[in-house]
Amino acid sequence: MRVAVIGTGYVGLVTGVVLAELGNDVICVDNDPRKIEMLKKGIPPIYEPGIEEMLKRTLEDGYFHVSDNIGDAVEKSEVVFIAVGTPPGPDGTPDLSAVRAVAKEIGKALRKYTVIVNKSTVPVGSGDVVENILKEQGAPEELFDVVSNPEFLREGSAIYDTLNPDRIVIGAKRREAAVKLVELYAPLEKPMILTDLNSAELIKYASNAFLASKISFINAMSRVCEACGANVADVAKGMGMDKRIGDQFLQSGLGWGGSCFPKDVQGLIKSSEGLGYDFQMLKAVEEINETQTTHFVDRIEKRIGGLKGKLVGMLGLAFKPNTDDIRDAKSLVIIEEVLKRGASVQAYDPVAADNVKKVFPDITYCDGPYEVADRADVLILVTEWNEFKNMDLERMACSMNEKILFDGRRLYGKAKAEKAGFEYHTIGS
Ligand code: UGA
Repeated sequence: MRVAVIGTGYVGLVTGVVLAELGNDVICVDNDPRKIEMLKKGIPPIYEPGIEEMLKRTLEDGYFHVSDNIGDAVEKSEVVFIAVGTPPGPDGTPDLSAVRAVAKEIGKALRKYTVIVNKSTVPVGSGDVVENILKEQGAPEELFDVVSNPEFLREGSAIYDTLNPDRIVIGAKRREAAVKLVELYAPLEKPMILTDLNSAELIKYASNAFLASKISFINAMSRVCEACGANVADVAKGMGMDKRIGDQFLQSGLGWGGSCFPKDVQGLIKSSEGLGYDFQMLKAVEEINETQTTHFVDRIEKRIGGLKGKLVGMLGLAFKPNTDDIRDAKSLVIIEEVLKRGASVQAYDPVAADNVKKVFPDITYCDGPYEVADRADVLILVTEWNEFKNMDLERMACSMNEKILFDGRRLYGKAKAEKAGFEYHTIGS
């Protein structure tokens, strides 16, 4: 199938490359000349395991093309994906200006029947917004259908998730348009849900908000566990074995970050507000997430008798492992808090340090994990990178001023850390 994907961020680029890998003729479009140049050379502008190899292969085999011209890509395609960013505006409402701008360009270029697919995460009702823009641009109704096909990939495992989705959601007004996407995704042999536009748009928000709620629930339980000496990991395990609950996204830690959960929880609160419903439960979910990190810093401060003049070592900066993304990363909150309370910071992350440098240019960035421990008064594990799992903890403890470890992701366990000489603190036990 001839496919255009507008926007080469995480969602757009991964979708484009995977569809090309499946043998479709794909044109990825972006308005950033730097990204276009990189993609033409087979260099992905995002960090994502596995994407470079797939990009190079599909480029060489002639399935993947790059362009800066939306009109040209639309003319050559049967299906056009809109996969541009919808960042939160000042009040948390998703900013649809990029979606609107792209829809305008598509509307101008439509000459033959084309299925326009919204893959960006958009508030309910956005399918109609796109449809109206296309009409305003003079595109006759019979020349297009607007379809919602939300994306559920995770950063860090984006290629795998796109090739192995739990479900594919297709929302459309007309069955014929949905069938076009059914054909496109048929090679994946995964369950597909065909529904209306509004329901498809809401499935995306509801899924992310529900997953964030699950994490906030277990993080709230971690506070109860800390107060009574129970162990949150055992509580989660016991809950998760009930098939109705499930064991995923019950890992207690510093809370959820990244480019999606914070934005989408906010987005759903705002959309609901606009529709006359006050989604109080999600407001509590957000609040638990915010206090989870500050509570952790409070515990550190209390244990080491104030942070003033202390040296804090931080392992991990990315919002989660296998990504260089630091959007809403808990590391940023922790750095800000400990600096505010008078400490200095030395930190290491395998790939995200350069991004954090732009926000905090004055902290010390180390070349490896062992340097982080050197002379530190406390060591904090923030991101559970694989590289941190089998470190020589004894070597780390020996180089520290005070052998205190605060494990924000429950990575090490008390027995292992204490054996290495650490005084061990974690979340929820
Ligand atoms: C999330 C969803 O999982 C994807 O399905 C969705 O497509 C994506 O948002 C999106 O809307 O684009 P992502 O933000 O890449 O994916 O990362 P997750 O792996 O879901 O992690 C989100 C946050 O939750 C991270 O900060 C992670 O550390 C935290 N988390 C996750 C926990 O604290 N505990 C858990 O048990 C799981």
